[in-house]
Amino acid sequence: MTDTASQADTAREVPDGEQPFTALPERNLDKRELQALVDELAARPELWREEVAFSDTERHYASLHRDEFVDVWLLCWTRQNDTGWHDHDLSSGAVRVVQGVLTESNPRIGGEHLATPVGAGSSFCFGPDHIHRLTGATDDAVSVHAYSPPLWRLGQYDITEDGLMRRVSVSYADELRPMDTAAAA
Ligand SMILES: [Fe+2]
Repeated sequence: MTDTASQADTAREVPDGEQPFTALPERNLDKRELQALVDELAARPELWREEVAFSDTERHYASLHRDEFVDVWLLCWTRQNDTGWHDHDLSSGAVRVVQGVLTESNPRIGGEHLATPVGAGSSFCFGPDHIHRLTGATDDAVSVHAYSPPLWRLGQYDITEDGLMRRVSVSYADELRPMDTAAAA
């Protein structure tokens, strides 16, 4: 289940000039703490604005921070960009959309997959049990993502035409893409 909350519910005040990463506890963060972090970062565009760029052929992303306990990424999306179905192995995560709209989909066995629009100003968080797929719903979408423990492996899923689902373990450094565009459409 995806958890949504407004910025007002979760954001902590970060004084101007303070790097939000230096205030983090020296341990893994839970999904609520990750959501508070991405909500903070949304209010600090000077930390990510210069990384924004778009490509229809390969999703643009930039690492904003990585340490022993958390990694943080900026991702930019057009409607051609699609992660395919995936999980985050051992990591919890949070996503904040700062511009445009993403679609978060969740697979439903034996029924219609769930598809949830996530617009600018909204965020959600999830635990390691979460399986999803993110696609750009506009050609100018920008999102901030945080994971703890830092992403190392992910599970990439393929759903065959007859509905069989299989998982392939991939490195976090490999860009997530649908494994079978025809079956995943
Ligand atoms: Fe993900």
